[in-house]
Amino acid sequence: MLLLSVVLSLSAAIVMGSPIPMGILSVSCLSDPKCGPVPDKSPLYNDYRGKAPPFPMGYKQPIPPAASGDPAPDDVLWQNLLAAEWVISNFYQQGVEAFNESSFTALGLPNTTYDRLCEIRDNEAGHLRIFQDQISATSVKPGMCEYDFGFGTDPEIFLALQLVIEVTSQAFLSGPVQMAYRNATRGALVGVAEVETRHNVWALIDVWGANPFAGPIDTVFPYANEILDVTNNFVVAGSCPMGNPIYPNPRQNLPLMLLNSSLSNGRVGCEVGFVFAQPNNQPNFNSSKEYYAVFFHGVQNITVPYNIENSSSVVPSAFDQGKGIILAVIATKPGAPELESVMAGPLILLQQPSNLPSAT
Ligand SMILES: *[C@@H]1O[C@H](CO)[C@@H](O)[C@H](O)[C@H]1NC(C)=O
Ligand SMILES: *[C@@H]1O[C@H](CO)[C@@H](O)[C@H](O)[C@H]1NC(C)=O
Ligand SMILES: *[C@@H]1O[C@H](CO)[C@@H](O)[C@H](O)[C@H]1NC(C)=O
Ligand SMILES: *[C@@H]1O[C@H](CO)[C@@H](O)[C@H](O)[C@H]1NC(C)=O
Ligand SMILES: *[C@@H]1O[C@H](CO)[C@@H](O)[C@H](O)[C@H]1NC(C)=O
Ligand SMILES: *[C@@H]1O[C@H](CO)[C@@H](O)[C@H](O)[C@H]1NC(C)=O
Ligand SMILES: *[C@@H]1O[C@H](CO)[C@@H](O)[C@H](O)[C@H]1NC(C)=O
Repeated sequence: MLLLSVVLSLSAAIVMGSPIPMGILSVSCLSDPKCGPVPDKSPLYNDYRGKAPPFPMGYKQPIPPAASGDPAPDDVLWQNLLAAEWVISNFYQQGVEAFNESSFTALGLPNTTYDRLCEIRDNEAGHLRIFQDQISATSVKPGMCEYDFGFGTDPEIFLALQLVIEVTSQAFLSGPVQMAYRNATRGALVGVAEVETRHNVWALIDVWGANPFAGPIDTVFPYANEILDVTNNFVVAGSCPMGNPIYPNPRQNLPLMLLNSSLSNGRVGCEVGFVFAQPNNQPNFNSSKEYYAVFFHGVQNITVPYNIENSSSVVPSAFDQGKGIILAVIATKPGAPELESVMAGPLILLQQPSNLPSAT
């Protein structure tokens, strides 16, 4: 149980700022939620500032089931979240390793920027451990793959990706809430979504100097695994450990859809161009059929015709301007009413800040 563990963690042994010792805990220990620093008890997931990966990031292999029997009803949901969290935690870990305080003060950003990114990295490591613990003993806990985010040594691209990743996580989390069996799972998912929101609200205010609000409600989207599948774009092909389940599970493997940023930035009222970036995974359009671009914003969705000749559509001007995100899919039916009616996407169109580099 996430919040009920009463056994003291090993956190007292951690000296803040020092590397976390690796390779000292056995796999059988890792399957026990009381093993290692415990989220919400250990300061590791808040205050650690070292460059070495914090627990449990040093333990990359999948954790095999510790007991036999049927999986718990929410195990697949948490396996998907854990595999996604490996992506996100590695994004921050790579950033913490690549940059330092000067990388961001040189851009004119507050001198707390690097420190905040370290703390977010710590929070994400805590998510890894929380998600591992939520998977029951009868199911494997997925391990780490290798990830390439393409930011190299450029802190501006890192920061732009940071916002996209946080906003995407937040939009994603409204999906599994609708699929969870346990009430406690739903509560934990909302708690995690709120933390991802804090991460992106911080970035909107302190990094981008923007109004951080998103209107009365953030965008909800029911097909959570379609969002997760987009993160496979960061996974180095063939790098996942053998014992990992397919990710996401189940996987539609829809064509990856990106924004043609030379046409527009995808704001309300703009013509928007879609790019299908995977040569071997292109949507199979039939020129005698009609297709639709379905745009989701808050609890609304609006359908407009999709032009298969030039891969374009228009972001509905009926949506409020400049707030939160708009999520777009290409569908065979207006409103994309079933999972199977989605043909490509989703694509997240950030509506703020106005100064985000267009390369993203
Ligand atoms: C950050 O790294 C650069 C390059 O290695 C170095 O010159 C600079 O002093 C470092 N800044 C801090 C605050 O550690
Ligand atoms: C960070 O910036 C604040 C004001 O923006 C300043 O008061 C503080 O001294 C700075 N801290 C360091 C360590 O440079
Ligand atoms: C979730 O909570 C509701 C309302 O308290 C309860 O009726 C239901 O049985 C709970 N579901 C599970 C799976 O425990
Ligand atoms: C992107 O839009 C520009 C401007 O309309 C167009 O010239 C270009 O072909 C588009 N790129 C793709 C890959 O569709
Ligand atoms: C394209 O759609 C038309 C009309 O529904 C259908 O008759 C035709 O068989 C479809 N072509 C392919 C290749 O699926
Ligand atoms: C795509 O085609 C539509 C319909 O002909 C047209 O209105 C639109 O301007 C075109 N967009 C681009 C980017 O070529
Ligand atoms: C989009 O809105 C329509 C009309 O309210 C609704 O029937 C449909 O289920 C919605 N689509 C999704 C994916 O929620």
